[in-house]
This record gives sequence, structure tokens and C-alpha cells, in this order.
Amino acid sequence: MIEVETQQGGPLVGRLVVVGLGLIGGSFAKGLRESGLCREVVGVDLDPQSRKLAVELGVVDRCEEDLEAACVGADVIQLAVPILAMEKLLARLAGMDLGSAVLTDVGSAKGNVVRAAREAMAGRLSRFVPGHPIAGSEQSGVEASNSTLFRRHKVILTPLAETDPLALAVVDRLWRALEADVEHMQVERHDEVLAATSHLPHLLAFGLVDSLAKRNENLDIFRYAAGGFRDFTRIAGSDPVMWHDIFLANREAVLRTLDTFRSDLDALRDAVDAGDGHQLLGVFTRARVAREHFSKILARRAYVDAMNSNDLIFLAQPGGRLSGRIRVPGDKSISHRSIMLGSLAEGTTEVEGFLEGEDALATLQAFRDMGVVIEGPHHGRVTIHGVGLNGLKPPPGPIYLGNSGTSMRLLSGLLAAQKFDTVLTGDASLSKRPMNRVANPLREMGAVIETAAEGRPPMTIRGGHTLKALTYTLPMASAQVKSCLLLAGLYAEGKTTVTEPAPTRDHTERMLRGFGYDVNVDGPTASLVSGGKLTATHIEVPADISSAAFFLVAASIAEGSELVLEHVGINPTRTGVIDILRLMGGDITLENQREVGGEPVADLRVRGAKLKGIDIPEDLVPLAIDEFPVLFVAAACAEGRTVLRGAEELRVKESDRIQVMADGLLALGVKCEPTADGIIIDGGQIGGGEVHGHGDHRISMAFSVASLRANAPIRIHDCANVATSFPNFLALCAQVGIRVAEEGKS
Ligand code: S3P
Repeated sequence: MIEVETQQGGPLVGRLVVVGLGLIGGSFAKGLRESGLCREVVGVDLDPQSRKLAVELGVVDRCEEDLEAACVGADVIQLAVPILAMEKLLARLAGMDLGSAVLTDVGSAKGNVVRAAREAMAGRLSRFVPGHPIAGSEQSGVEASNSTLFRRHKVILTPLAETDPLALAVVDRLWRALEADVEHMQVERHDEVLAATSHLPHLLAFGLVDSLAKRNENLDIFRYAAGGFRDFTRIAGSDPVMWHDIFLANREAVLRTLDTFRSDLDALRDAVDAGDGHQLLGVFTRARVAREHFSKILARRAYVDAMNSNDLIFLAQPGGRLSGRIRVPGDKSISHRSIMLGSLAEGTTEVEGFLEGEDALATLQAFRDMGVVIEGPHHGRVTIHGVGLNGLKPPPGPIYLGNSGTSMRLLSGLLAAQKFDTVLTGDASLSKRPMNRVANPLREMGAVIETAAEGRPPMTIRGGHTLKALTYTLPMASAQVKSCLLLAGLYAEGKTTVTEPAPTRDHTERMLRGFGYDVNVDGPTASLVSGGKLTATHIEVPADISSAAFFLVAASIAEGSELVLEHVGINPTRTGVIDILRLMGGDITLENQREVGGEPVADLRVRGAKLKGIDIPEDLVPLAIDEFPVLFVAAACAEGRTVLRGAEELRVKESDRIQVMADGLLALGVKCEPTADGIIIDGGQIGGGEVHGHGDHRISMAFSVASLRANAPIRIHDCANVATSFPNFLALCAQVGIRVAEEGKS
């Protein structure tokens, strides 16, 4: 009796037979017995003691010594014997009448099991579903059976072309009942992946310990072996017989991955031999970042375990007043550009004040992937060993840019001129953002670029095409498009000229000059000629006015506040937020104005003020483009009506910022009306309630600030992306008096 969907929680399977009652087989049997999905669970094992224990411990309903007797009337037969015993077992099963029973297994290598199954039971393959649970423990034997062993662990099923979809669905459903994360994969792919991620590390651990242990001086070596040795070789304590089986079973895939590793190891050896520190640093920095990246993925997994969802919720308590002096993190736009130009420069560029947020780190990782050695970031310091304009290398695979539109748009310009192909991908939000605004003018320059439908990412950029300079008038005010084309212009034949309809941030132009590259700016038009070079320099990144904006608004709306924001970049193409707040009656003064590395900087003093609604001048829109979410909060606290027009660009940021802010404000009882290119907000009382960050950092932070004037707590969903631009936002909030924290943490 097998039905894929059970009715009213009844059993899915009549009789489940588990052959082999070790840790894995026992845990599978026990978990399913407890789930109620099987009417009867029967165990088979050669060892009488295991059979006895299995019944006593409630792992199975009953046990059989004889395989044939156990399999009578079976609906599903799980083969959980050591991998090298699988061949014989399959041959025995082939001689039996198994009716329409579904056969599945748990072997850690799949190619050999499938080969054996093809030989032994060619006619029955439709009922065979090969599988592999990636779970285990140091303990073994039926006494270690644990019904939750597979919870939140991956189980890979490798169905064959012949596998009956219904049989697959049954096995799939059984593993899901044990709360495993089930994935389907091709047999060959499974064996490659496991060879690289599991089998090779085990081989190296066993090999290293043996190699050290058999030397004469081994006692001394082990006496001094501390953390590194212990950490690297922990898995050499695994079951030798099981691992010997695995290497024999997955021979081909292990050999392939081992050979690749051997040549990488040889390259490292050569670097040590030649005293090539640059090469070593490159490998080590890339490895370290990759390790951190993997750990994050694993940690996210752990977080999901704890919370059963990946929704990071901010809980903001109402009221409060701000005081103190803080420095918000480094400017995101400048941080991106420092990595790009530093990588393309000749010589070593030192960066200070670099934003260690996920967006800028995505850019940094992209250049590491293209062979640039980058040290740090460490407390905002980054050292970039530039490779020159023509020194980038093909990345090993697609470049993942997370949430970062700036990375994708700016990179597309300089990648269009490289000799190699690249694929740029991003997260769900970035994958919805328009890229034709860069792809189209780049195509006019001769670039070959493919995108998904409607010009969305991923972007595939073909290498080896010579670009020709372009004279282009931007259809929208966008610093990203302007910068993209100027970067492409570094490689294009002739003079690239870009004219913008309204002033946008000019960090690219300023920084190119800082690297000694001539850029001509004439009113709204910037141009440059290819053929020059970038010379390494020192960059001091000022604090990001877009991050400071949250505190400018916060201190303005919270009566009695006085706050100083130190060392904030006040590039005139970025100060729209100050102008708008001042027009609304905000009290902001600029102190200690100075210029640092070609960018103007000041300390901003902001005091609480009675704000009033205004018609926001349209010419200020591009100069405050990232600050509108929090400016809408200021408008909600102001007396009277605020009207924004000419800001349709807000609809294609990390979220549709007009709509999601309107939705959130309405949920908090604020009167507002979104329009095609802006919003109308009537100031008044802000209430408490639930709002959504929509994975957009600036939305989450804006609603955190709104709590200062709310009359009840605000719960903000989907806040994880605050880390893209402002990793220590909550800590700084706590420091100055905004009472927002991750829900569940004080
Ligand atoms: C940026 C430009 C702006 C801004 C973004 C950063 C840049 O985008 O919104 O956060 O660093 O060039 P657009 O140029 O698309 O307006």
C-alpha cells in the first residue's frame, strides 16, 4: 500500500523494511516509526544483538534474520548496509519476488551502487531510488539510533532516468517526514561534489596524520602539535573501514578531485620554493574569505534551525531622545570605487575607512575572483595590490554580487572591455533590477552582453570585443550608469563623453583623478580618453552621508536631541538630505569642514526641531536619492503636507521604495498616498504595528527611526539586509538612544 499523499495523516507506507541496523538505518527506522507514516517497520540485521536491541529500543516493530522473510509484503526497502556490501545485497534481492516494492539506499557514493543495481536488477530499475543522507555522528550501532538525526540535514536523492516518479515521490516524502532537506541530483554530480567536499578532506586528514606519525621524530612533532594539527586532523578519527569502503567505491571522482588538488598543491610548493609571497598571499586571502563565506552559509543554516525561518525581525520601542557623538561606517559608493580603481591601478593602494558591509564586500570578492590580491578589510583598512588596467584574470565561475546594484552596474562597464567572459548574478532583489540602462549604451560601444528577460540579471558579458568610445546623454539621472560608461571608456577607442540630465554623485570622476587619470568635467558633461593608466594612491573613505541620514532624521524628530555625526562626506552631489531637512525646519550645522583625499568632509551637529511639510524641490531628488525612505519618516512627523515628485527612480531601487514605504506608513496609521513618481504624506501621529523591510536595508532602518515618534512598538520584518550598508546600525542606535534591537535580544 503506497499513496504519495496520506489522507488525514494516515500511514503512507504499509511495510517498511530496513536492511542494516547501524546508526543510519536505525535512525531512519526509528524516525519513521515515530512519524506514524508506516504501518509496520521491520528490521533486518545479521547481528542477533542488534536485532534484539532494535526491538527493545523501539527502533523497529520487529526484526528478521532472514532477508527474504523480511521482505515479504514490503512496500519500501531501505538498504543501509556498508557500501561495499551493497553489490552482494542487490544481487540477492534480484533473486526475490519483491512485488512492486520501492528500493532505496543510503550509500555515500552513488555511482558504484547504481552500477551494481544495473547489473543485478536491470528490469527493476524503475523502483530503485538511490539516496544519500549527509548526516552521521561519532557514535555508531543501533544503540545510537536517533529519530532526529536527519532533521535539517541534506539528503541527496539521485534518481535514474528509469526511476518511476511515484517511487521517487515516496522516498522523498519519507525523508521529509524526518525533516531532512531533500535535494535531487545526477549520480555523477553527487559523486563529484562528495569527492571534493567530504572524501578529499578525509583522505588528506588520514594521510597527514600517517605521514607525520611514521617519521622518526614523531614524538616531538606531536608534542608541539597544537590547534592547527588538531583542527585539521579531527576527521582522521573517523571509522577506517567505512572510509576504506568509500574510497574504493568512489574511486574515479576521488582521483579527479585529488589530481586537481595535487596541481594546486604543486603551485603552492613552487610559490614557497620561489619565495613568491604575492602568490601565497593571494591564495591565503582568497581562501580565508571563501571560508568566511562558507561559514556564513552554515551559520545561516543554524539560524534557520533556531528560528525556523530566516526572517530577521527588528523590534523598535517607542519614544526616546538622541545624544552623543558617533561616526557612521564608510561611504558605500566610495568604498566600491576604491576597490575597483585600486585593483586596476599600478602599485599598491591603501584604503582607510572602508565600509565592511556586504555590498562593498561583494565588489571586493569579485576582484579577488579576478586574481587581484587584496588584504583586509581589517578595521576598515584594505590593501589592494593593483594589477593594472589589463591585469584582471578570468574568474573561476559566475561572480555573485548579492544585493549590490552598484557592483553590477559599475562592473559591467569595465568587464565589457576584458578579454574573458563573465557572468554577473545577484540575490532575489538584484535579479529584479533593470540592467538595460547599462547594457544598451555598452552595446552601442560594441560590447556583447546578454541578460535575462526585460534586461534583468544575470548579465553575461562576452570578452574579446574592442569597445569604441561613445557620446551619450543619460535618459535618467544615474551615477551608476555614468560611472559604468566612464569605466568602459578607460578601454574604448577614443573619447567617451557622458552628459547627465541632473547632477549625480561624482565620486568616480573625483577618484579617477585621485589615481592620476585625466577626466574632463564641463557642467553636466564628463569625458575621458582611453590609453592612460591609474597610479596607486591612498584613499580615506569618509563616513557615509546616506547612513548618517538615519540619525539626521532621528535627532530632528526626537524632541530635545543633540547629536554630532563625525567625519561625514558632504560632497555637494550628496547633500540633498541636509537641504531638504533644513527646508523642513531642521536644525543641522556643519562643523570642522575640511577636504580629505579629494572629498569634502564635516562633522554634522543636529538638534531636535519642529518640522513642517514641504514641496520637495525636484532638483534635490538626485542629490538625496537614497535618503527618501527616512525623509518620508521625517515627513510623517512634520506638521502639514509633504509632496515628492520626479522620483520614479525610487521604484527600481532595492525595493519599490515608494510603494513599500507607503504600505508601511499606512500600516502605522500615517496618511499618505503613493503617486507614479513620488508620494504625498500628511504628517501626524505614528502608531505602532507590523511593517516589512522587503529585504531593503534603507526601509528597515527608516522604520526603526520612526519608532522615536511612535506611540507603540514597531515590528519590522525582513531586516537582514541592513548588513549590506550599515553592519553596526543596531549598536549605534543603542549608543545614541534609539531603542531598536533584534527581536528576542535585548
Ligand atoms: C550609487 C548611485 C545611486 C544610488 C546607489 C549608489 C553609486 O544609484 O542610489 O545607492 O554608487 O553610484 P543610481 O545611480 O542608479 O541612481
